[in-house]
Amino acid sequence: MGRLLRTLATDVRRKALWCYESDRWSALLRVLLTDGTLAMVLYRLMQWARRWRLAPLEMLFSKANAILSNCIIGRGAEFGPGLVLIHATGIVINGQVRGGSDISIEHQVTIGAERRSSPVLGDGVFIGAGAKILGAVTIGDGARIGANAVVVHDVPAYCTVVGIPARVVRQRRPEGVFEASLIESETLPRGSVLQPNATD
Ligand SMILES: CC(C)(COP(=O)(O)OP(=O)(O)OC[C@H]1O[C@@H](n2cnc3c(N)ncnc32)[C@H](O)[C@@H]1OP(=O)(O)O)[C@@H](O)C(=O)NCCC(=O)NCCS
Repeated sequence: MGRLLRTLATDVRRKALWCYESDRWSALLRVLLTDGTLAMVLYRLMQWARRWRLAPLEMLFSKANAILSNCIIGRGAEFGPGLVLIHATGIVINGQVRGGSDISIEHQVTIGAERRSSPVLGDGVFIGAGAKILGAVTIGDGARIGANAVVVHDVPAYCTVVGIPARVVRQRRPEGVFEASLIESETLPRGSVLQPNATD
């Protein structure tokens, strides 16, 4: 129970920083009233019930999330602490998905299986509204997925991808942007890693 509460506190604090750039009490209280937070809480309760092998409770929290928040997160989906569901409506996540810490997800996002394989997400990934991430893809740390992008290839760390199929348009260092040029509209083959600028 202690771990559940610590994880929930981390999630709520991160959402307060994301939404209001503050983690004061007033910001934390406002976060509790925003949509998306109920889905975050129900997901963590589902994860907790799964850890303790309380299958009926796990199913109950899963169904409650679908009915109350229109958010379908498959039982078995794992996300580390700092998960933020900004608006949860329309989110569909496969139960095999694995995600790191500090992941932010907008509404109408699908993270789904293709040929029975599901995506793996690194830490600090942002997924814009309506984006789809499909199949056996790996999303690197700090990647940003643009609104309505359809990702079917791996995304290198600290890259921004947009479009259908998603292509890399920006690559940055963890601290900030270091290559602002649009990388010509080619789709990155699976496993590709962008090279830094020669001038860098
Ligand atoms: C992709 C995104 C995360 C920005 O990431 P970023 O690394 O800061 O990238 P930039 O804004 O510098 O954009 C890079 C390029 O991609 C383009 N781009 C940005 N988002 C795009 C999108 N969703 N689809 C297509 N192209 C997009 C930009 O126009 C820019 O092109 P340019 O270099 O020719 O000007 C952001 O644009 C986005 O899609 N956010 C989603 C926000 C959201 O879902 N909001 C819902 C609130 S309810």
